Amino acid sequence: MSIATHVNPSGGADVDSPVARSRDMKDYHERFANYYDLFYESRDIAGEVKQAIELIAPGTDGNRRGLRVFDFGCGTGSHAVEFAGHGFDVVGYDIAEAMLAKARSKCATLDHPPQFVGGDINGVIERFGGESFDCIVSFFNVLNCIPSVPEIARHLAALRTLLKIGGRGLLAVWNGAASLADQPHPQVRRWTDPADRDREIIRFMVPELDRINQVCRLNYQVLTINRRTGAFEEFQSEHDIHLLTPVHYRHLLATSGFQVLREFPQGRSDDPLTTDDWFATYLVQ
Ligand SMILES: C[S@@+](CC[C@H](N)C(=O)[O-])C[C@H]1O[C@@H](n2cnc3c(N)ncnc32)[C@H](O)[C@@H]1O
Repeated sequence: MSIATHVNPSGGADVDSPVARSRDMKDYHERFANYYDLFYESRDIAGEVKQAIELIAPGTDGNRRGLRVFDFGCGTGSHAVEFAGHGFDVVGYDIAEAMLAKARSKCATLDHPPQFVGGDINGVIERFGGESFDCIVSFFNVLNCIPSVPEIARHLAALRTLLKIGGRGLLAVWNGAASLADQPHPQVRRWTDPADRDREIIRFMVPELDRINQVCRLNYQVLTINRRTGAFEEFQSEHDIHLLTPVHYRHLLATSGFQVLREFPQGRSDDPLTTDDWFATYLVQ
């Protein structure tokens, strides 16, 4: 579903044509990377990383040099930079070059920056070797962005290959059991651009739930408006989120060679997961 047809005062293409849409999608990923940190500014990245360290590398305080963390789907690199600040050797991996470029831009002044790599996950195994990481993390539903269950299985098997025997992983995912029961609601959010206080950014999100295929399509439209000049830009895109349920995660993790140590609601590692919890975390070995 398209939220709106494209209105482009400079006379640009109509995004409903397939050619314009593919151009627009590429453009969307570039632009989305530019706004990603603003859209998710309220997240407590430092708190997420602190809790992850307690679970995947307990008792390592003050003794982390040489401990290697692989951040799968690192996005704009905020978690990877935070892990590096705690003394870990970090590799952030993502499929989107625009996100990696943002991640690399955060490293200029760091003494011990993460390394950011892209490409296919199998290329990462060839590059770093099997059992080359002490810990694996994946924050904010990366697995759900992978377009099919066999592809998710392929990525999990690759992650298992990267992890040392006895090493731990933390995977944060959507809990399909919650979102299939109570469909996500439309949202409108607005921000002021911190780099230009005249610019306002408005994001509309309309979800479409396909329960048979267990996919939630998130239709986004983003408008940026300059309050002083009246200039505006618009881009839109769709993201398919694959809503696996706990039964699927446990099966996929087990068949990929992981042992599930704990399954819990995001941020509450001592609580059981319920259908009220939209986000689940898996602590694995
Ligand atoms: C919702 S973002 C999460 C980013 C980051 N982990 C965070 O917590 O903000 C999902 C990320 O997964 C990445 N991604 C999607 N499919 C991927 C794949 N097959 N391999 C690696 N990264 C992927 C996307 O490019 C995007 O940066």
